[in-house]
Amino acid sequence: MTVVSAPGKVYLFGEHAVVYGEPAVPCAIEKRATVTVEPRDDGHVRVEAQDLTLNGFAVEYADSPASGPDVDVPKPLIEAATGYVDAAVEQARDAADAPAAGFDISVDSEIPLGAGLGSSAAVVVAGIDAATRALGEPLDRRELADRAYQAEYDVQDGQASRADTFCSTMGGAVRVEGDDCSRLETPELPFVVGFDGGAGDTGQLVAGVRSLRDRYDFAADTVDAIGDIVREGESLLAAADPESDPSAELIGELGELMDINHGLLSALGVSSRSLDTMVWAAREAGADGAKLTGAGGGGCIVALDATTETETSLQYTPDCEQAFRAELATDGVRVEDE
Ligand code: PMV
Repeated sequence: MTVVSAPGKVYLFGEHAVVYGEPAVPCAIEKRATVTVEPRDDGHVRVEAQDLTLNGFAVEYADSPASGPDVDVPKPLIEAATGYVDAAVEQARDAADAPAAGFDISVDSEIPLGAGLGSSAAVVVAGIDAATRALGEPLDRRELADRAYQAEYDVQDGQASRADTFCSTMGGAVRVEGDDCSRLETPELPFVVGFDGGAGDTGQLVAGVRSLRDRYDFAADTVDAIGDIVREGESLLAAADPESDPSAELIGELGELMDINHGLLSALGVSSRSLDTMVWAAREAGADGAKLTGAGGGGCIVALDATTETETSLQYTPDCEQAFRAELATDGVRVEDE
């Protein structure tokens, strides 16, 4: 039995603009998806996904998922639970040169689905790592990140940047610009996350921004301006000592950039009433800055606040279903048991 976990993430800056080659800075957080893999001899794949915010179910199917698993659960739910796992299995089989390998897989995730916290990337990263290890062919991290990106790209019909999968693999704060990905050394930032209980449709939201950008030069300028925010934020982070607590001045400056980043995302049509309400609740509670994280449309916001005020205030905000402090996950993908 091989057990591997991988973290979710928040975007400090840069979602959506990263799709058009601007840089982005996602940060891994200590909310993990854990995947357990046991090879089996018959080439079948059995997936148990108890915590994918679906009512727990298990499905078993043979080599061709095209025919679909034989269970009485709506197709979109099956696809949500198994699409990413299937793609991870395909990548693992290919990497280990074992096209007929079968697995019992169970997925346990603390990360809400489709809420901007990188749940699918974490499942794919942990899944590929666990399956290749179970086959005796562990991958180095660069190849793992690459294959996880490929898996997401396939499932999302090409609407994926490398940001989520690279961040989940490497941990910490990372910088992604096109195919160029690297880890950033940053101090621990006081992230607070608010979750509205909903989810956005990433494909639709990305398409919406693309359409605005194609129609209006000022929308294209807005996307470019998000890139400028990221570059500004990066230079602040580069000047900070990663070993010390961040100064109040640094948190204040990063927060200001997050606020502007949220305003620009909102201008591009990807915020929502509940995301805006949570952002304003955080700001009014004294957060240094707050923005939506991920594709938007619903899901999560991220705020910076070293005090407990923002978390408490979000807990009493009707549009917020869950609020929590999120520590930077320095580890990335991690073997829990082998
Ligand atoms: O909501 P998430 O975690 O899937 O993030 C989407 C981020 C986008 O920049 C909108 C798309 C991408 O693949 O980078």
